Amino acid sequence: MGAAKERTLSIIKPDATRRNLTGKINAKFEDSGLHIVAQKRLHLTQEQAEKFYEVHRERPFFKDLVKFMISGPVVVQVLEGPDAVSQNRKIMGATNPANAEPGTIRKEFAESIEANSVHGSDSLDNAKREITFFFSETEIVG
Ligand code: CMP
Repeated sequence: MGAAKERTLSIIKPDATRRNLTGKINAKFEDSGLHIVAQKRLHLTQEQAEKFYEVHRERPFFKDLVKFMISGPVVVQVLEGPDAVSQNRKIMGATNPANAEPGTIRKEFAESIEANSVHGSDSLDNAKREITFFFSETEIVG
């Protein structure tokens, strides 16, 4: 049986938009067979960033993370394909670029554990929640 078709939420973060890396990162997704079925460029408000990262509110890095995520534009996108959630996490590489595999986005582009170029949903349930956070169903064209 083939892998299930899934959707996952991806964010190209301010460190990457600042360095004009949107196209290079999108090429990594597309080269791996993921389809970008929705995409928009936004400048997050503090309220949006705090709400999106709510699960991390008690973590010591929360305040800095929010400050970083509102420091410039982001590109939010929905990626679709077989096993999209885990496939995207493979392409992104480890959260800390020092631990990321060669060829991954974070290995090639991330500046630090915080400025790590991309976010990707970590489970199918979170993907659904995160996609709904940014997109209505009519904005997603598979
Ligand atoms: P992301 O996948 O967007 O989820 C939470 C983010 O917090 C993570 O990527 C990093 O950008 C940021 N972060 C900063 N410091 C840490 C840390 N020590 N551990 C995990 N995430 C961190």
